[in-house]
Amino acid sequence: MKHFINLKDIEAKDLKKILKDAKKRKSKRKKLNTLDLDKGAPLRGKILIQMFEKPSLRTRLSFYLAIRQLGGGTITLRSNELHIGRGGESLADTAKILSTYGDGFMLRTDSDKKISEFVKHIKIPLINGLSPSSHPTQVLSDIFTIEEIKKKPISKLNICWIGDSNNVLNSLIVASIKFSFKLNIACPKNYKPKKSVINWVKKNKKILNIFNDPKKAVRNADVVFSDKVISLNDKVNIKKKTKDFKKFYIDTNLLKLAPKSIFLHCLPRGNEVSEKVFQGKRSHVWTQALNRVHVQKSILLYCFDKLR
Ligand code: CP
Ligand code: NVA
Repeated sequence: MKHFINLKDIEAKDLKKILKDAKKRKSKRKKLNTLDLDKGAPLRGKILIQMFEKPSLRTRLSFYLAIRQLGGGTITLRSNELHIGRGGESLADTAKILSTYGDGFMLRTDSDKKISEFVKHIKIPLINGLSPSSHPTQVLSDIFTIEEIKKKPISKLNICWIGDSNNVLNSLIVASIKFSFKLNIACPKNYKPKKSVINWVKKNKKILNIFNDPKKAVRNADVVFSDKVISLNDKVNIKKKTKDFKKFYIDTNLLKLAPKSIFLHCLPRGNEVSEKVFQGKRSHVWTQALNRVHVQKSILLYCFDKLR
């Protein structure tokens, strides 16, 4: 079994294998209904326990469909309804019970430390369904979406991120090394990626192009990404942060500087992008959301050592 916690820990060849499998599986589902099983139902009889410490719409639904289409099932837990969430039961005992009852564990948490603690005790694959520092299932799926739409390997494309240096960007930065693509980042001066992220990038001999001006960052972009300015774990002065990002608003005028670009956003959205761009022809946000089902199926198979 394997965990899926951070793209850093997974070999590039395995990430590419996951995407290849997802492409094959997606193409074979064209005539199938939502809950029809993939041929062979490779995860028949398996249960994925999903635990959320933060809200989620897409991650919860996409993992539900992913495991169901592979022949398994899922149950969703809210940590505040469990003894662990109320402080009455240890993480170690909780992990033991999860491993006894379940076959896989997907965790969305407000603490990276909690993931590391679970890893010490859990005996089943653990998937990170978003933590304060990363959102690996989202970003791997986004690479799938980009290659599907652009019909090119991402290594041949210019990717541009306009927004906060948050969990999604951290995973995108790691992906830029694993998949060798050019990444431009536009953010206010005080909101650059953390030192630890920059140092990891340097260690991997990669250059990040960080701009304080979205107009400079977006030039020649094939893909423009954005995300909410205020993330779920943000304990900030919302008014101030929103004001600091005013210049980084994505509208049709900005996208005119990157005429070939598509627009992606992991959702949910805030006020960082205009309605016209979000709902426009160049936006692929709905396909992007749905592709998470396909990619997460292959992530599950990777975790269960069943990737062909
Ligand atoms: N993109 C994403 O992870 O959405 P949810 O927070 O709704 O799961
Ligand atoms: N950066 C966002 C992503 C939500 C899917 C957050 O952490 O809230």
